[in-house]
Amino acid sequence: MTHDGVNGHPAPTGRVAAVVPAAGSGVRLGAGIPKAFVELGGETMLERCVAGLLASGVVDDVVAVVPEDRVQEAERLLAPLRVGDHVVVVTVGGAERTDSVRNGLAALTTARAGAPGAGTDRPAVPGAAVATTGYDVLLVHDAARCLTPAEPIRRVVAAVRSGEVAVVPVVPVVDTVKQVDADAYVVGTPDRATLRGVQTPQGFDPDTLLAAYDAAGDAATDDAGLVERLGRRVATVDGAALAFKVTTAEDRMRAEFQLLSERSLAEGPQTMTFGWQLYRPETDSEPPRAPQEDQ
Ligand code: CTP
Ligand code: MG
Repeated sequence: MTHDGVNGHPAPTGRVAAVVPAAGSGVRLGAGIPKAFVELGGETMLERCVAGLLASGVVDDVVAVVPEDRVQEAERLLAPLRVGDHVVVVTVGGAERTDSVRNGLAALTTARAGAPGAGTDRPAVPGAAVATTGYDVLLVHDAARCLTPAEPIRRVVAAVRSGEVAVVPVVPVVDTVKQVDADAYVVGTPDRATLRGVQTPQGFDPDTLLAAYDAAGDAATDDAGLVERLGRRVATVDGAALAFKVTTAEDRMRAEFQLLSERSLAEGPQTMTFGWQLYRPETDSEPPRAPQEDQ
């Protein structure tokens, strides 16, 4: 695949793959189904996330990592995104995010085998050593950050292509942050100017990420954190407000409002339905029923 080039850089040649961890249960969101399969504006977060990566123009292939009982559904949802020579593979996640990303990395070694456009029933082998991926850049991008715009994705890929081994998109921290002890007493106030909130996609030189996962213990909240443990340097680029992670019901509402306002701009005013409505006992005969999510 040829690229248009990023920020004026000449079009690069090697391929870029993204692992999309989407196997979490979404306890904090509380939708009753795995979070990545919750719909926002009529499309699941998983579809939006994968479509957004491919639409950035700098991502070739995607491995979506989903709960075991959602593989068929994910295959069906993502099938329309298998266009051109994009390979979109679905594999099974694990108990922790780290396990899911590790499974996704294992699936990458075989992702190109069925190209172009092939799906997979190749299960990843949890914990399998991953020798090589054949990619120039690997991204890891949370399905829950499904409204991420193209710009931070392009900035991350461009920074890895320019020689950084690990790159994270960051945003300024708006609150003062305190460090506390085990009894919740404040022990320090880090200088806010030196702090950043970290988003995804995080981008890596493939050998560096694979070495980090080979060396990793069980859990890490952040892929770049594993690279830091190897003593390798992690670079930052500007993230984006819209790359926020949909974690709680409030985040879901924020995402719905965002999509609604985008549609309003494009098509005129819209009506939005949430999973709840106001009930006014004095005028309403019975409480409204919440729409049921598919199980
Ligand atoms: N994830 C995953 N496998 C896991 C846990 C998380 O692939 N075992 C993914 C989630 O699907 C999500 C991303 O990692 O896209 C970030 O995790 P988080 O926002 O914490 O999602 P959940 O774990 O699903 O949510 P919660 O912690 O509220 O249960
Ligand atoms: Mg979680």
